[in-house]
Amino acid sequence: MTTKSSNTVWHHATVTRTDREKLHEHKSVILWFTGLSGSGKSTLAHAVEDYLHKCGTSTFVLDGDNVRHGLCSDLGFSDDDRIENIRRIGELAKLMVEAGVITLTAFISPFKSDRNAARSLVPHGDFLEIYCQCPIETCEQRDVKGLYKKARAGDIPFFTGIGSPYEAPEHPELSVNTHDQSLDESVKKVINLLVERGIIKKQS
Ligand code: ADX
Repeated sequence: MTTKSSNTVWHHATVTRTDREKLHEHKSVILWFTGLSGSGKSTLAHAVEDYLHKCGTSTFVLDGDNVRHGLCSDLGFSDDDRIENIRRIGELAKLMVEAGVITLTAFISPFKSDRNAARSLVPHGDFLEIYCQCPIETCEQRDVKGLYKKARAGDIPFFTGIGSPYEAPEHPELSVNTHDQSLDESVKKVINLLVERGIIKKQS
């Protein structure tokens, strides 16, 4: 990627990621939740965070709607803006992993290439893609924010799943069916994945 930041020199931190992970007594990782609007990404990410926090784990959720109020408030929903949105989040999540934090991201992130670009920013195994699988009909029925109704009425031209595509992951590390699986079941699946991958210890 081209950069406008010439004449800058990388400063190596004396406190390393490994030092921070030792302090936290767990490894850091990116849990990348992807799925349609209303598929339960934020709900699941926050429920997983809640569980981990109660176990004394260092966590942070980056949430699409929230981040778009600040860091990405200059971006809309054109393909280019979504690409830039996910690029920024990928870079931010990479920094948070260096900070030794279990970082949960909840963005539609509709394009495979952008999710793969975020994956490529961190060492192999540090990016776990979690597909929140839910038929669009169910998301539309839930319509928590009333956005599907607006999109169907033509008021939101590039709404994901209606006027803009969603490319489902082919090989996610985990797929959760938020349509007929309970939130508790989905949380357990994510926690099991973290234990299997050696990110956290098995909870007694
Ligand atoms: S992404 O495509 O760039 O990954 P992101 O997750 O940040 O999207 O934001 C999605 C949220 O923005 C949705 O949950 C919804 O509340 C809102 N939103 C507003 N307009 C759109 C749109 N055109 N398509 C999808 N979501 C939209």
